[in-house]
Formats: sequence, C-alpha cells, structure tokens
Amino acid sequence: MTQTTADSPARRQRAQLRERTLRTDQWWRYPLVTFLIFTAFLVYSFWAIFDMDYFVSPYHAPFTSPCLATSCPEEARLFGWAPFGDWYTLPPGFLILALPAGFRFTCYYYRKAYYRGFWLSPPACAVGEPHGKYTGESRFPLILQNVHRYFFYAAIVIGLILSYDAVKALVAKPNGLGSWILVVNAVLIVTYTLSCHSCRHITAGRLNHFSRHPLRYKAWTFVSKLNAKHQELALASMFSVMGADLYVRLVAKGIVAFPFA
Ligand code: FES
Repeated sequence: MTQTTADSPARRQRAQLRERTLRTDQWWRYPLVTFLIFTAFLVYSFWAIFDMDYFVSPYHAPFTSPCLATSCPEEARLFGWAPFGDWYTLPPGFLILALPAGFRFTCYYYRKAYYRGFWLSPPACAVGEPHGKYTGESRFPLILQNVHRYFFYAAIVIGLILSYDAVKALVAKPNGLGSWILVVNAVLIVTYTLSCHSCRHITAGRLNHFSRHPLRYKAWTFVSKLNAKHQELALASMFSVMGADLYVRLVAKGIVAFPFA
C-alpha cells in the first residue's frame, strides 16, 4: 500500500467531485450573513476612525481609546499622557487601530467566519470551494496568523484601558446611560479577550500535572468555560464596541442630548 505524507502530491490533490455539494439545507445563509455583518462592521470602523467627535466628558469612544496624540483633549488622554507630538496630524484612532483590529483579524473564530464568508474557502462544510489550490495556514501569507498570541497581550492592555474608561465614566456620571453602555462593553471586551484560545493555552496549556498547579488549574477551568462561548463573545463584543462607540459619538455630536445621555 502506498503511504501518503502530509506534503505528498497525493495528499495535496483535492477530491474530484462532480457535485459542488450534496447538502440540501440553506448552507449559504451562514456565509452570507457573516459577509453582511462583517462588512457593516468594517464600514462603521472606517467611518469612526476619521470621525473626530470621539470624546464628550466623561465618555470616551472605544475606537479612539487610548488617545495618545497631542491633538486629544486633555481629559481624553490616558493619565494625561500624549507621547505623539504635534508632528502627528492623522486622526488619533489610527495610532491604536492595529491592535484590536489585528486581534480580531487573527482570532480563530473570525478566521473561520471570514474564510467562509469572504474567501468561500470553503463556504460551508461539505461544500466545494471555487479555489483550485489550497495551502491552508502553513505558508505565507496565512502563516502570519500565528501572531495572534502576541495580539492577545495587546488586547489585554486595550481591555484594561476600556475598563478604566468605563469606571471613570461611571464614577463621574453614575446615572448616565453612556456610563452603563461603556461598562457593558468593557465586560464583553474583557470576557471575549479572556475566552481566547491563546489565553487558555497560556493559563495551563503545557502543564502535565494540574494537581501541582492548583491556581493555574483554576484559571484554566474558568478560561475554558469562557472559551466554550468564544464565538458568542466575539460577536457580542463586536456589536457592543460598535454600539458603545456610536453612542458616544452621537452624544458628542449633540444628536443624543443630556440629561438622557
Ligand atoms: Fe479568538 Fe484568540 S482565538 S481571540
């Protein structure tokens, strides 16, 4: 019998099927809905990054937090810190955009979703894809998805900063709807971040004996429970960050008026 190795020509060859799929259910709904939702998120993000109404005391729009440019209002700066000088003239949101965007772009859930919804690779289980060649994530450029574990550390920092913004707003305006919207968003962002597969690996991924590391085992058990809901948290936090960001901008523009805000 001929043995096939992972990279042998026999393994690289795709199954020759005459039918694109034998599925009779509406398998196209998942990639279509994914495509529409993610496109809406991308369009919103693009608009938000250029929109300059990102702060109205005590609310800070999450897409532009932390605000690190000297053009940021004094109160919006993280601990008054503005490391980028007057030479920086682009919208402040650009400075941090790569961190949350990179974290989501390389997330296991998002990868599955956009490989299906945007690249149709494959569009669904047991449905043939339009591409003739498949190299997976073992080669350039998709091998770069492995940087996800490093984005995880950046996402922890961003989650802490958004939590700080939310607590600051809540202390300044405990009855403000915006404060509570920011709190709910921070909770969802942090739980999504902690539910990350990399986080699960970091807590106890390489341990051989849980009994010798009770604290790490506890952390791993907690993270594993969140991890089981990773897809739900990824979507919930995506909607919450978009909703919270839009809400702050509407208040800043005077479209949603105080005291209701
Ligand atoms: Fe989704 Fe890490 S796997 S955030």
